[in-house]
Amino acid sequence: MAESLTIERTKSPKTKPDFSQLAFGKNFTDHMFVVDYVEGEGWIDPRIVPYQPLTMDPSSLVFHYGQAVFEGMKAYYSDGNIMLFRPEKNFERLNQSNRRMSIPEIDEQLLIDSLKELVSLERDWIPRGEGQSLYIRPFVIATEASLSVKPSSSYKLLIILTPVGSYYGGDDAMNPVSIYVENEFVRSVRGGVGFTKTAGNYAASLKAQEQAGSAGYDQVLWLDGVEQRYIEEVGSMNIFFKISGKVVTPALNGSILEGITRDSVIELLHYWDIPVEERRIDMEEIRTAYEAGTLEEIFGTGTAAVISPVGELRWDAQTYKINNAETGPLAKQLYDTITGIQTGDKEDVLHWTRTV
Ligand code: COI
Repeated sequence: MAESLTIERTKSPKTKPDFSQLAFGKNFTDHMFVVDYVEGEGWIDPRIVPYQPLTMDPSSLVFHYGQAVFEGMKAYYSDGNIMLFRPEKNFERLNQSNRRMSIPEIDEQLLIDSLKELVSLERDWIPRGEGQSLYIRPFVIATEASLSVKPSSSYKLLIILTPVGSYYGGDDAMNPVSIYVENEFVRSVRGGVGFTKTAGNYAASLKAQEQAGSAGYDQVLWLDGVEQRYIEEVGSMNIFFKISGKVVTPALNGSILEGITRDSVIELLHYWDIPVEERRIDMEEIRTAYEAGTLEEIFGTGTAAVISPVGELRWDAQTYKINNAETGPLAKQLYDTITGIQTGDKEDVLHWTRTV
């Protein structure tokens, strides 16, 4: 990318929300990053501009055939510095989603450099409370005005920022969540797009999420799309089980999101010499472990969710209370370590943070 980033500052900064009452993804900062893709020219005109609505042709391909991908990452305030957590992994994954969705790849270094500029400009928007951060949402949309089913010839990539607290609401990010094991709908199939962060994956999950919500559950646990037997992931996070002292998580099989927090947890467990296996996990295995009293903990991992203990599981008309519906010691240790590294309070033993 030969072109350099331009910056247009807002003339009317917004009033910031009350940082003690942050809802997830409701308040956006003063500026956003935009870069356009034009066929024959590539990604052009990277710029930071005042946060504003987009003007788009109603026939833009994204509205009709859903050619769109996104990412989720966070910036933290640490003693006068801004810290990003493994941002290169997110942009690598963005390009992985792009390739699958026939969207042109973009220079990852340009995105890292531009993001650093953007978060520096918005440093006063980074909340400093316990469990708070500035959530970063990069996304790409197909902008060509056309109703033909084909890859778009033009795109926009934007990065918007929102100060956030805990994803599941409430003050305590470690409040255990309840999970409904979905046995009607499926999220993804072999050869599909389950490993990408494409908008449609989330749209397709809403019905099950709605039903689980009406039954009083926070999230849906998806099973494999063929036999509806093997565990895949939760709506907004990957999932881990601690059984008889060993940690297991579903292996990446193409239909599961390759979570960066998931990867960080696995690396930390290796670092601590705690046995961890990535493999296929049958729901029956969970039932058997529960009945034998060897199912010690369940927790989810994700950028938004961080480490989220699971206190209750509902499957096949049966309710399973996990660890007395309390946060388990391993989930707590992982949460404290990962958030400690992210905010600079703990030594970054695995070299994950990037100071802006
Ligand atoms: C994230 O954890 O960043 C996600 O993208 C999950 C969700 C909020 C859709």
